[in-house]
Amino acid sequence: MRSQFLVCGLAAPAVAFPLLAELASTPVEADKRQLPGLNPGFNAAAQLIDVSGDHAFTPPNFQAGDIRGPCPGLNALANHNYLPHNGVATQTQYIEATNKVFGMGLDIGAFLAAYAAVLDGDGLSWSIGGPPPTSLTSIAPGLLGYPQGLTGSHNKYETDSSPTRANNPNFWYGPFTGVVVSQAAYAFIYRFMGNKSEEYPMGILNKEVLKSFFAISGDDDNLVHTPGYERIPQNWYKRAIGDEYTIPYFSADNTAWILKHPRIATIGGNTGQTNSLVGLNIANLTGGILNSETLLEGNNLMCLAFQASRQAVPDVATAALGALSKLTDGIVGSLACPQLQTLDESLFANYPGSKVGGVASKM
Ligand SMILES: *[C@@H]1O[C@H](CO)[C@@H](O)[C@H](O)[C@H]1NC(C)=O
Ligand SMILES: *[C@@H]1O[C@H](CO)[C@@H](O)[C@H](O)[C@H]1NC(C)=O
Repeated sequence: MRSQFLVCGLAAPAVAFPLLAELASTPVEADKRQLPGLNPGFNAAAQLIDVSGDHAFTPPNFQAGDIRGPCPGLNALANHNYLPHNGVATQTQYIEATNKVFGMGLDIGAFLAAYAAVLDGDGLSWSIGGPPPTSLTSIAPGLLGYPQGLTGSHNKYETDSSPTRANNPNFWYGPFTGVVVSQAAYAFIYRFMGNKSEEYPMGILNKEVLKSFFAISGDDDNLVHTPGYERIPQNWYKRAIGDEYTIPYFSADNTAWILKHPRIATIGGNTGQTNSLVGLNIANLTGGILNSETLLEGNNLMCLAFQASRQAVPDVATAALGALSKLTDGIVGSLACPQLQTLDESLFANYPGSKVGGVASKM
């Protein structure tokens, strides 16, 4: 029932197996479409990720307090000491590690790191799993009480519409959590985990690589999930330098999917029971600035999503929030967004699934 934003997608092992096996049954070559003017190229020396020495795979020691969470990519970074092995890191550490190992754009990395720090952490640091034990870290009480980590963030990062898990009866597909978070969970898997090469500069994701990143072992009839054992494969090559996966790139991906499957853009949810899905009226939500047609033009959908995310953060003036809204403003600027006014939050009241945790109810 949940999905995570950061290179994420798998948390409930048992239900995940059939879908993962299906996903893995044929290697997926990343969509050949590229942002205009970009040819990723391939540079083996620059793209090979070191998994030896200090970066050798070291599984978590849960007894000693190591934390792992629902995002395979982040777990793998901690297991290879690209993030602190205990699973609690600072914004800067997240931005650097996701860029260095996965070729995540600094714009996405900065936004995600800042956003998680505010909603799941203490404004500076956050945990990739559950709440950090006080003995492990000096993490301070957050803006929203004791930091709950990524695992405690349903409807912030953590959403319905997961690549690997079932939804709940109060399915909610919000402007940010649905359109951005859950779509990113799909995109990140093949955009980041695919192995890049001369032959496949955009990457190819085969079963072995997927299983390694998702901590799955065993053969097809007997897949075993060992949570926390997510691993960067030997001889694995990341995205080309200069071909980082950025917010405009993700926006272009999102638009391409919506052209194929327009319902991806249907913001809304169930209204109290299973199979009661009603779409949100976009014109009403945006005070008439956008409607269901113009929503699909340019970057408008992404603009609405980031506007919703901006509105969802708590209204308290702190340095962390100031930095986050600057980032969001920058993103909205880079996407050439229409001037969106405050969204009409009263419309969310029809959707019980949108209201898990007061803070997140607008996304
Ligand atoms: C990645 O691709 C290269 C070139 O084909 C290959 O040598 C290497 O083994 C692949 N790595 C993985 C993890 O599949
Ligand atoms: C949207 O606005 C129109 C016109 O103001 C109104 O008739 C309609 O009931 C509204 N729809 C929703 C879902 O609020």
